[in-house]
Amino acid sequence: MREKLQVLFEILPFLREFHNRIFVIKIGGNVVKNEDSKKLFAKSVVLLKYMGIKPVVVHGGGPEITQMMNQLGMKVAFSNGYRVTDEKTMHVVEMVLGKMNKEIVTSLNNEGAKAVGISGKDASFLFTSKDLSNGDIGYVGKIEKVDTELVEVLLSKDYIPVIAPIGFGEEGRSYNINADTAAAEIAKSLCAEKLLLLTDVDGVLKDGKLISYLTVRDAQLLLEEKVVEGGMIPKIQCAIDALRSNVRSVHIINGNDHLSLLLEVFTLEGVGTMIKNG
Ligand SMILES: Nc1ncnc2c1ncn2[C@@H]1O[C@H](COP(=O)(O)OP(=O)(O)OP(=O)(O)O)[C@@H](O)[C@H]1O
Ligand SMILES: [Mg+2]
Repeated sequence: MREKLQVLFEILPFLREFHNRIFVIKIGGNVVKNEDSKKLFAKSVVLLKYMGIKPVVVHGGGPEITQMMNQLGMKVAFSNGYRVTDEKTMHVVEMVLGKMNKEIVTSLNNEGAKAVGISGKDASFLFTSKDLSNGDIGYVGKIEKVDTELVEVLLSKDYIPVIAPIGFGEEGRSYNINADTAAAEIAKSLCAEKLLLLTDVDGVLKDGKLISYLTVRDAQLLLEEKVVEGGMIPKIQCAIDALRSNVRSVHIINGNDHLSLLLEVFTLEGVGTMIKNG
């Protein structure tokens, strides 16, 4: 036990640096789907909370939405990693994300947190318009404005906000927002210290090998060279965007590795891909 406790002294510099800082932690649908990963994710987030960090959780739901659409015999399509979302798809998105949101809330509460599930429709906090940057792909939303008051109130009372990436728009319309993009916009508005994207791969891969560190410029080149595809595209795009704003670092890590979150936060070398201005 004596040796094990030494580690607390080793992480003291990190705890000092991150005290009361906001970390926006996005968990991908694949990770939520895996019961063990979800449980260990909840443990890690609650640990960070009790260590004096303020976590804000944003979740995706890609695989479960696809699964439900398949069961309903609906056509599934993506454009540049963004889901083509007609009205019926939007209903499925809201239904599936609503269920997943409460599952994550329950997991966090089981570990002793006070987690509160919300979507961008609560207190109208994610005002959204139709995203036309990939052509017209239906009810895919682009966040126009984040009203941080609700999240700030929750954080000030020690709640952990758990956010489903659904926006509200003109005439009360609902919009499907890519969860990475939503997490980045929220991180920007809250001036978060870190944006951590937990996915189902170890980080950004090139020729099958992990890239541990990227500058914004490197990240742009990866997009141009089409090294990143599918669901990795929104991650890199939003990382660049968040870093150009006031987020200090973006991390892409494997959410199915139960120590990745803690290793990324409390070691200099980390385990996944860290992206910084430089
Ligand atoms: N260069 C790359 N390095 C790593 N992953 C890549 C790369 N190019 C494409 N990908 C793909 O990106 C996927 C991750 O994005 P995806 O959208 O599928 O998951 P997520 O964002 O974690 O979950 P959700 O969409 O449910 O929020 C990986 O599983 C991988 O197949
Ligand atoms: Mg994704």
